[in-house]
Amino acid sequence: MSNLFSAITIKDVELKNRIVMSPMCMYSCYNRDGKITPFHITHLTSRAVGQVGLVMTEAIAVMPEGRISPEDLGIWNDEHVAGLKELNEQIHAYGAKSATQLAHAGRKAVLDSAIYAPSALPFNDSSDTPVEMTEEAIQKTIEAFKNGARRAKEAGFDIIELHGAHGYLINQFLSPLTNKRTDKYGGSKENRYRFLSEIIETVQTEWNGPLFVRISTDEYHDEGNTLEDFIYFAKEMKNQGIDLIDCSSGGVVPAKINSYPGYQLPRCQKIKYETGIATGAVGLITSGLQAEEIIQNERADLVFIGRSLLRNPYWAKCAADELGYSINPPVQYKRGWS
Ligand code: FNR
Repeated sequence: MSNLFSAITIKDVELKNRIVMSPMCMYSCYNRDGKITPFHITHLTSRAVGQVGLVMTEAIAVMPEGRISPEDLGIWNDEHVAGLKELNEQIHAYGAKSATQLAHAGRKAVLDSAIYAPSALPFNDSSDTPVEMTEEAIQKTIEAFKNGARRAKEAGFDIIELHGAHGYLINQFLSPLTNKRTDKYGGSKENRYRFLSEIIETVQTEWNGPLFVRISTDEYHDEGNTLEDFIYFAKEMKNQGIDLIDCSSGGVVPAKINSYPGYQLPRCQKIKYETGIATGAVGLITSGLQAEEIIQNERADLVFIGRSLLRNPYWAKCAADELGYSINPPVQYKRGWS
């Protein structure tokens, strides 16, 4: 019996195990049009073949100016849907569920065009200074998340995650380090949460499937959001019907992070216990035993695996072997799997 390989149902979506491929930018849209390429299909489908329960795409930009780099995936145009649909058909063919991570990079976009943020503060000395968003620009961006959700639904994704972490646009609104606004979107934590709150509300008009949010639960700065602030945000998200908070950290301002196995887990666990919302654990989770411990001790509900899955598309199979647990291969591999 393995808890890591136990199924979980979120809304009406059943994941066959608790292993999620963490979103990872591949900077591979060489035409700079945001469209899926054969590489993305091979890359993501191979993890479905490798028996990951939920395969999540890299951050997918809801507006062209919301890309981290010009080579990022995009979902700002109806023309993006066909390629994403093909991707989902492939992922589903091997028994995995699929997710995409709707994103806007805000001031961390590295593009030739103007960049936008809640306040006109550059990320560091070598970054461009962003344009402070007007209320009209804010509404346009919220609308772009809604249209992204509609397209994600049309493309057949099972789950949507909103990227509220790593110092990208949503995170820039949440953090007092990057949000110096004096209107209703800045100041108090209630006001700083408003942008995310309105995105969730409008996305839910198009999407009634499972909705996750990734947040940075530690800003590694004395004047950043505190754990209590994140617990407040998590409670609000739970009240709004968010199904899971994916607990990452950092990226808001330049900071040195002391990372070690499971370093983001204490805050993930705290948010889960304080609010009762399901959480996802991520960050230097590298072995089957470590992942099993997290699920078995109810420290999180899902484990997100990043770099280990880059190194080994069969990480899930190896984790099962490590735990002495047998998992089914795709039918085509039955004769050579064990
Ligand atoms: C990332 N990460 C990341 N996170 C995210 O929320 N959206 C993204 O698009 C990306 N892109 C990305 C690209 C690459 C190449 C790496 C290595 C990482 C962060 C990733 O999802 C994960 O949170 C971290 O890598 C920590 O987990 P691991 O790698 O220690 O398992």
